[in-house]
This record gives sequence, C-alpha cells and structure tokens, in this order.
Amino acid sequence: MLSRRLRREEGETNKPRKHGTPVRRENPTGWCRYFRTYPAASTDFRKEDNGVIPFNRPLIAEKAYDYLRQAVDNMHLSGDGPFTRKCHALLEEELGVPKVLLTTSCTDALEMAALLLDVRPGDEVIVPSFTFVSTVNAFVLRGAKPVFADVRPDTLNLDENQLEALVTPRTRAVVPVHYAGVGCELDAILAFAARHSLAVVEDNAHGLFGKYRGRYLGTFGALATQSFHETKNFSCGEGGALLVNDARFIERAEVLREKGTNRNRFFRGQVDKYTWVDVGSSFLPSDVLAALLYSQLEMRTQIQSRRKKIWQTYAEQLQDWAVAQGVRLPVAPAHCEQPYHLFYLLLPSLEDRQALIALLRARGICSVFHYLPLHLSVMGKTFGGREGDCPVTEAVSDRLLRLPFYNDLTAADQQSVIETVRSFRVARRHGGPRDILTLDGSRRAA
Ligand SMILES: Cc1ncc(COP(=O)(O)O)c(C=O)c1O
Repeated sequence: MLSRRLRREEGETNKPRKHGTPVRRENPTGWCRYFRTYPAASTDFRKEDNGVIPFNRPLIAEKAYDYLRQAVDNMHLSGDGPFTRKCHALLEEELGVPKVLLTTSCTDALEMAALLLDVRPGDEVIVPSFTFVSTVNAFVLRGAKPVFADVRPDTLNLDENQLEALVTPRTRAVVPVHYAGVGCELDAILAFAARHSLAVVEDNAHGLFGKYRGRYLGTFGALATQSFHETKNFSCGEGGALLVNDARFIERAEVLREKGTNRNRFFRGQVDKYTWVDVGSSFLPSDVLAALLYSQLEMRTQIQSRRKKIWQTYAEQLQDWAVAQGVRLPVAPAHCEQPYHLFYLLLPSLEDRQALIALLRARGICSVFHYLPLHLSVMGKTFGGREGDCPVTEAVSDRLLRLPFYNDLTAADQQSVIETVRSFRVARRHGGPRDILTLDGSRRAA
C-alpha cells in the first residue's frame, strides 16, 4: 500500500506513528499524517485540515522515514552519498541509460544541458511555447534566442510539423517537452534533428517511466531532464535528474555538476587531488533528499498503478458528461504509454474554465490551470513573440483545467470532484466550425 491514509481507506489498521507527534483532525478525510506547516487560515490548498481537497499532496512513501533516518545516521548529508548512488543505479538500470545524475531540480538539469551543448549568444533553440519557463530560460541564460513552436492540438506536445519552418543556420537544438508524460512524436523530431545536425534535449519533467513505441521517454535525446518537484509522480520536494544518453557528455556533466571541478575523478582514485577544470555550479542535491526520492522510486510499480487507477476513474466517469458538454479529455496515442502524471479538461472557453474553477473552489476542491503561452510573456515578447504566433497554445492555455491528482487521493474525494464536475454546465459549446480545438483533438483542415 502507498501510505497510511490509503491503508486506512482500505480497512487496514493504523500503526502508531514512529516519528513526530500525531495530528488528529476532525475532517472528512480523517487522519492527517502531516505536521502543521501552514497557517490555519491559509488559502494554500495543500493541507486537508479544513476538508479541502487539494490539487496536490506530496506522497510520503512507506519507507520514507526509515530512509531519512538512515540518511542522517549515515552522516553523509551532502551530495553523492549512498542514497544518491542507489537512485542513480536504479534509474540507470531501469531506463537503460548510460549515466543518470541527480540534480537539485529539472531547471538545473536543463541548465546543465545548455552548458554541455555549449550554447552561445546568437544560437537559436526551438522550444514549445506551451511549457514551463525553465525549458526556455536554461538556454536564454547562455545567450540563445528561443524560437517558439506551437503544440499539437491532440497531445499538446511540440508540433513536429512546424519544425522545418522554424529552423535556421543558427539553430543548435530542439527541446521536446512530453506534456503530461505523453511522448512527443519522437520519430519525426529525431529525423528532423539528424537532418539539420541539431541536439535533442528531452524535457521529461512530467514523464518518468512513460514510453514512446515501447521505449522509455528520456532515452531518445542526447540529453534528457527529469523533475522530482513536489507535484511530480516521484518527488523529494525539489529535485531533478540529468539523463546522459550520449556518452561523450558524461565526463563533462560530472564536472559541471561539481562546481567545475574533477572531484568525481578524485573520488574514483583517477587523480590524486581535485581541481578547477571547467565552468560549473553546484547542481547536486543532498543525500537526505535522495533518501526521500529512493523510498518512492523503489515503489514505482505501485505508484504508477495507483495513478493509473485515478486517471482511468476520471476518464471513465467524466466521458459522457464531457461529450454532452463539449469538453475535451486528454488524448494519448496508442503508441505512447503515459505515466499518468496529470488529468486535464479542455473547456469550450476561458469563461467556462474560470466558472468551473470557481464552482470547484466553492465546493472546497482545488483545481488549477497550467502554462501561459511563453511567446506572449514579458520575456517572450522581447524575442519577438506576437499574439497569433501559436494559436493552439493560446487556446489551450485559456481553456485547460487540471483536476486534483495525487497518489493518495481517496475514492471518496475523487467522487466529490467527479460529481461536482458532472454538475457543471458549460455556457458555450465547444468545437464550432472555427474552433481551433476539435473535440477529438484532430487537426482542423486549413
Ligand atoms: C515541462 C517542465 N520543465 C521543467 C520544469 C521545472 O522543474 P523543476 O521544478 O524541477 O525545476 C517544470 C516544472 O514543473 C515543467 O513543467
């Protein structure tokens, strides 16, 4: 079982808490195993003590406290200790990647990728506009210009059909983001990159253990990045990883991550002292965080099957409502195995999306939207972004709503969410002849 909360729901007895003081709350979701870390009147919907169904709750895996204690007892609190090595080994073996390096965030892993590719001022990097700012910032920090591509109307992933029109002699790399952990069209993207001698960096923040044509996401690009932020399927609060698929980058990646020194070589006995050999920064997380992460990675099968169940319950129970209301549910092509990272609805309009968020909020349920188009952000406009450049991104950004989704979302809480959503009636029907987002995600003929 994933946690005490779920065990309770499934009728198992509560064992006494080993660590910390129990916090008893009178609320519909029962026993809270978290310490009170938020003020009582907080509008931060992560806590459950006021009966609110949060958008996300971090998972505390069965062995979390044991491993945290072990990490402390090991007296190795800095990076690259025993738990970091366990995470590296597990991920390298499971994914079949030559080198995995835990980082302090996916943002840092992306910045390492930009350094490894030696991206310089004047270079261009093709990125989706519908993504988190870090996908782009990492390259902008090195002086590159982001070239924004729109996303596909079905998977909301980088639209591979646009790539040829965006490439120039200055293009250095393309960064596919596997939105919701559903794979981008990697066959086409890799072929495009090979034609133009570009590097592919997969931003796989959402997609650990997702697959494209039977192969793990994150194993296709020369480099790939993972996020272990609190909202991800596997998390240690703040964390990430760089997956190095092109072995030529391994040695330098180790140096960049260790402040530009050859410290790793020193620890392996390959040099008798370590020194400053390159640029770099401190990209490695504490072994205490790695302990937390390892407690979850070990349970990957249970975590993924739990998330699959939650995702499928939403999909099945919202299907007829969605059809009747003209609301689109997520699309995952048959050749993509998704890791069930998030569940979204695409409402007919911004007004409908906001009205549903307000209805859910009034019933104590937290739902959120997602990325704002980066090409229309303050920074994006400085790179020439204009309204209408990425019409699918612009429409999706206004209309997408994410429902509560976390490992120990109880069946009762999920039913409350589903019933509230099903009670909602849209003001405007989706999918008129001029709507760029068709109801099945197919492309509208130009
Ligand atoms: C697509 C994408 N890339 C990168 C990041 C940054 O991840 P992190 O918070 O681990 O730096 C996020 C954050 O959620 C993301 O959604």
